[in-house]
Amino acid sequence: MKPEILITAKGHAGTQATLEQEFTCHKLHEAKDRDALLKQVSASVRAVASFGPTPVDATLMDALPKLELVSNFGVGVDQISLEEAKRRGIIVTNTPDVLNECVADTAIALVLCTLRKLPQSDAYTRAGGWLKAPFPLTTSLGGKTLGILGLGRIGEAIAKRALAMGMKIRYHNRRRKDSPFEYDPDPVTLASNSDVLMVVTPGGAETQNLVGAKVLDALGPTGYVVNIARGSVIDEPLLLRYLQENRIAGAGLDVFVDEPRVPPDFFKLHNAVLFPHVGSATVETRKAMGDLQVENLRLHFAGKPVRTRVV
Ligand code: 8YV
Repeated sequence: MKPEILITAKGHAGTQATLEQEFTCHKLHEAKDRDALLKQVSASVRAVASFGPTPVDATLMDALPKLELVSNFGVGVDQISLEEAKRRGIIVTNTPDVLNECVADTAIALVLCTLRKLPQSDAYTRAGGWLKAPFPLTTSLGGKTLGILGLGRIGEAIAKRALAMGMKIRYHNRRRKDSPFEYDPDPVTLASNSDVLMVVTPGGAETQNLVGAKVLDALGPTGYVVNIARGSVIDEPLLLRYLQENRIAGAGLDVFVDEPRVPPDFFKLHNAVLFPHVGSATVETRKAMGDLQVENLRLHFAGKPVRTRVV
């Protein structure tokens, strides 16, 4: 008998095919009547394979009283109620490390695209603008200071790349690290000492709107913000207004509050570069993430400790 699991959303195709081979899968996203499906599987589902932002909250946990494990595809677990899982003795796993280099590549690409306005220059060429005038001058990375808000494993991979491009690094974490980089005691000080603020914190209630008016004011009209973390970490309507009023120089965003819905006023901005949450989106990295998600499920059902436990 294959163990029974619940899949929360349509996710990485290769991983979902593997899950279907090894487990009896119930798909929440395909259910016409979600409550009826949950009622039908409540006595048999022992694990959830979670994909994307679909919440794994107290309501879902209540509906699955035999739940032992939530295995998430992705490093961020802000959509999973960790306290509720802990209280119920449910294990939660994620997919750290395998995506560090890929997400760091995306972060640096956003810095380059935002300061050098590379997507805008491509659009300019295609629209024939070059025939009329050269593309306006942009801003160099070299010599600028990158302030990393959240210097974890992904932040370190970003720092390595930024150093190679001649940038200086500072950071803020809740706790100072054993690190060669200059530490700032709070996000406002970090922003005031930085040309580019790189947001790499976890999402969730603790970091909601961490980047608000004070941080953006500290960054000022020559400062840039890049977000590869979660949309919720920046006050999104405020950021839009600051970009419209040129109160900061620009923004590079891979994440948004209500993905995939991006507030349409962002599309009118000339000082923002908008990516559709592609931080880890390569064939290689997504496969590695899926392999780790599946491995955690396999280990658990074999009675062994999981590999990458969060809770
Ligand atoms: C995920 C991410 O790929 O790992 C994360 O936390 O944000 C992405 O790398 C995404 O959640 C997949 O849907």
